[in-house]
Amino acid sequence: MFKQISILILVAFVYPLTNAYANEGRELHNSKCLSCHQTEAYTRANHKVKSSLDLGRQVSMCSQNLNTEWFPDDEKEVVNFLNDNFYHFTNK
Ligand code: HEC
Repeated sequence: MFKQISILILVAFVYPLTNAYANEGRELHNSKCLSCHQTEAYTRANHKVKSSLDLGRQVSMCSQNLNTEWFPDDEKEVVNFLNDNFYHFTNK
């Protein structure tokens, strides 16, 4: 009984944390990255980013132009967000 309760408590605390982590890239992106282009930039017919390497470079470039002062981990979150939702490269 005690064991089940402690698992429940653990799940109740850890689940929102993992969820917040997964949404971090989206929040960073949406708060900083939609002033020049909308997400259509990622899916337009002649879009430029063709690999996960390109994607990392482009996110870095746009982020530096913008002076976001993101840490490398933040950039990675945004790259993951863009890849999961738009690019779907498998060669991470
Ligand atoms: C100061 C304006 C500006 C801001 C703000 C900006 N971008 Fe960009 N971004 C551009 C421009 C301009 C292009 C298109 C470059 C081109 O077509 O050669 C672009 C293109 C891109 C692309 C490539 C799209 C493709 O062709 O596949 C990605 C990815 C991208 N931006 C990510 C971001 C991210 C992430 C942020 C937030 C850190 C961001 N951008 C903020 C100007 C901006």
